Amino acid sequence: MDARALEDLAVDIAREAGALARRRRGEGVAIAATKSALADIVTEADREVELLIRDRIAQARPDDGFLGEESGAERGASGLTWVVDPIDGTVNYAYGIPHYAVSIAVVDGEPDPQRWEAVAAAVFSPAVDEMFRATAGGGAWLGDARLAVSEPSDAGALLATGFGYDPATHAGDLARLGRIMPVARDIRRAGAASLDLAYVAAGRLDGYVERGLQPWDHAAGALLVAEAGGVVTGMPGERPGRTMTIAASSSLHSRLTERVFHES
Ligand code: IPD
Repeated sequence: MDARALEDLAVDIAREAGALARRRRGEGVAIAATKSALADIVTEADREVELLIRDRIAQARPDDGFLGEESGAERGASGLTWVVDPIDGTVNYAYGIPHYAVSIAVVDGEPDPQRWEAVAAAVFSPAVDEMFRATAGGGAWLGDARLAVSEPSDAGALLATGFGYDPATHAGDLARLGRIMPVARDIRRAGAASLDLAYVAAGRLDGYVERGLQPWDHAAGALLVAEAGGVVTGMPGERPGRTMTIAASSSLHSRLTERVFHES
């Protein structure tokens, strides 16, 4: 398995998919349906972009599996699975806020975030033409710049978070935010988890905490953070997942973990 070749393919596909998303955004976006909650939307563009990505992967790597936000899962024979969010930040996209991304990861093993090993990743932000990419063991990169996570200054950590679509979880999300606020200089809720993680990798954010992510939201971004020297975990002793994702430098990660899981 050539991780670099997989990264190159993920980058090429993400770039083509991002161009399509941007073109469709320019033509006007319609909400196609709601999903898990009224706030959880899908646009025709999400579906079209995922189909393009799925098609390109099937042409280039017919034996690989697929796990996508909009079109579901298909097991492959090779042991590799492509984990895809065609438009991460769909609500931003629908509102015309240019902070959205195509997120593509290639993972080895069971297509389960608790068990897979990420091999390669691409997170592409079409509106600003930024391509974040990584391979396991090969570092995380933005163009020719190798990425490294940051340490907070004396002013505190610039942190990002998000709120799940399910209103029943909001009180817990806000309580957690209150617990991490003492280590923050400020908080961002930018609306695209893959970019939150890419920005942690790039040192544009010091840390990130969110409950409720799906595998395609964090698969690529988590590899970026790890390859940039950071730590990404979920619940205590677990990898990132639906119940928790915490990403930061090792020392900030410890401080955040303490605050996220200790309620008094
Ligand atoms: C969402 C975004 C958002 C996060 C949500 C995700 P989507 O992904 O990443 O920032 O807070 O949990 O579901 O729905 O735009 O692909």
